[in-house]
Amino acid sequence: MYKSLPIAIGLLLAAPAMAADHPAAASGSTTLLASNCFNCHGTDGRTTHAIPPLAGVAKPHLITLLKEYKEGKREATIMHQLAKGYTDEEIDGIADYFSKQKR
Ligand code: HEC
Repeated sequence: MYKSLPIAIGLLLAAPAMAADHPAAASGSTTLLASNCFNCHGTDGRTTHAIPPLAGVAKPHLITLLKEYKEGKREATIMHQLAKGYTDEEIDGIADYFSKQKR
């Protein structure tokens, strides 16, 4: 018991830090959620390379694509895994955000 105490304390301390890993989900901020996509799809979804841009894509189309990824109906290397991490409400907000960005 004595030996495992520091480990138990370490886990207790790590738990809130792990929860804080997803501040966007906690605050519900769509901009923060959408910024998770910027790394690959470019800032505000304006890519200039192989990954398709999202900026200015019609909201219903984005929702369809993301839900197809989420449900495994659309072939993907990575998006099927990412899309699973978002609720339908979050997908709606993210799609809304990117549809309103200038190309
Ligand atoms: C790690 C890189 C990466 C991240 C992060 C990422 N994507 Fe993607 N995205 C891709 C790749 C690669 C594709 C092409 C399909 C595939 O192979 O998964 C893609 C395709 C898409 C498509 C389909 C576009 C089309 O015209 O076919 C949509 C929509 C999309 N991503 C939305 C998002 C959204 C929204 C986020 C943030 C929640 C996001 N992506 C985060 C890499 C990424």
